[in-house]
Amino acid sequence: MKDFTKEVLFSRDAIQSRVQRLAEEISRDYHGKELLLIGVLNGVFMFFSDLVKYMDIPVKVDFVRLASYGSGTTSSGDVRVLKGIELSVAGRDVLVVEDIVDTGYTLDALIKIIKAKNADSVKVCALLDKSERRMVDVPIDYTGFTVEQGFVVGYGLDYDEQFRYFQDIYTLHEISV
Ligand code: IMP
Repeated sequence: MKDFTKEVLFSRDAIQSRVQRLAEEISRDYHGKELLLIGVLNGVFMFFSDLVKYMDIPVKVDFVRLASYGSGTTSSGDVRVLKGIELSVAGRDVLVVEDIVDTGYTLDALIKIIKAKNADSVKVCALLDKSERRMVDVPIDYTGFTVEQGFVVGYGLDYDEQFRYFQDIYTLHEISV
């Protein structure tokens, strides 16, 4: 059986003020345009919702759910689409919204899918940029926080479907019992 200790990495207040500033920056950059936000489920649900609420430009929203074959807490390059994009992407300005970019495989695959659908532009907003295990060089245009190392949970992020509901983001330390 596994047990964990956890410590706060980003408090709910720090998260909210950072997300608000990200939304302001994105709203400024896309002023006069209508943006299509594509969220990557499931981990993005809290971040996505807060980001949209703080924005003050018209947006349309869609979601994808991707899975990559991998073991434990790391992913592999073999990405499968479990739920695809439903809205039309051709000729649109698209902003991909991710919870965390780790190896970069998921984001790399999604950017290729969106480009193949002839979007006008594709940019990326990630709440967390964890560069420790980056395998693919993916561009992140808007970053909330950088994380040096470790596994983080809360504010939508899970470990084995646990801890998504926390309002703060924690670093998780596994202990054997
Ligand atoms: P990537 O394809 O390796 O970049 O994986 C991105 C996905 O892996 C994220 O959308 C998360 O679902 C998951 N992930 C990677 N690192 C973490 C973490 O520290 N905590 C929770 N989920 C993570």
